Amino acid sequence: MFKNIFHLGKKTKLIDFSEIAVDMHSHLIPGIDDGAQSMEESIELVKKMQGLGFKKLIITPHVMQDSFKNSSESITAGLNNLKKHLIENSINIEVEAAAEYLLDYYFEEIFKLKKFLSFGNKYVLIELAYFNKPENMESVLFQMQIEGYKPILAHPERYPYWYNNLEHYQKLKDRGVYFQLNTISLTGYYSLPTKKIAEKLIDNNMIEFIGSDLHNLKYFEALEKSASEKYLKKLMESGRLLNKQLL
Ligand SMILES: [Fe+2]
Repeated sequence: MFKNIFHLGKKTKLIDFSEIAVDMHSHLIPGIDDGAQSMEESIELVKKMQGLGFKKLIITPHVMQDSFKNSSESITAGLNNLKKHLIENSINIEVEAAAEYLLDYYFEEIFKLKKFLSFGNKYVLIELAYFNKPENMESVLFQMQIEGYKPILAHPERYPYWYNNLEHYQKLKDRGVYFQLNTISLTGYYSLPTKKIAEKLIDNNMIEFIGSDLHNLKYFEALEKSASEKYLKKLMESGRLLNKQLL
């Protein structure tokens, strides 16, 4: 399965995505966030993920106060509609929905009311703002853990305010926060510094999940490209990835 060969100067893929089996971060419910915008686009992307070897997709629409104020009900309704269309198109893959929660005050509110979606064994996918670390981060994460939830921080490699000091990451690891790397970060899709910190997090055994964060075809093309990244192979061989446990 892992072949480290180069053919005619072109990188040969090292990774078979069926080994990951479960993608647990994507934006494939049409029209409710900045991901797929139509049912046709969603179906096409689900088909492509199946073609790469994924057996199950946990779709995670954005939930944020200022732009995508989705509710558990609207997400579930969107999922059911997608499922119906997948059946009509004879696409046989398991799909579930949770959400990617920005740690804003809206999340604090729905967390108190228990109106949020977890997946697997009480995992909750959360993200932070890209430019300023939220003030409420520690208290919200702590509260979640007290109540038995397991926060997974989405794409820790995308928060530049932590790049200069790995200690920021270590503090979260010490508190038992799971990290989910965006696979495409390893291709340099976002930026070179993002790629470098992604590699550093892998070197330091800090990653437990990987996800596509698939929004559209451009992301999918980058995901295909990531199959030939040696750091993805290194991560898979670390034995730390928990994606398969979500099957
Ligand atoms: Fe995302």
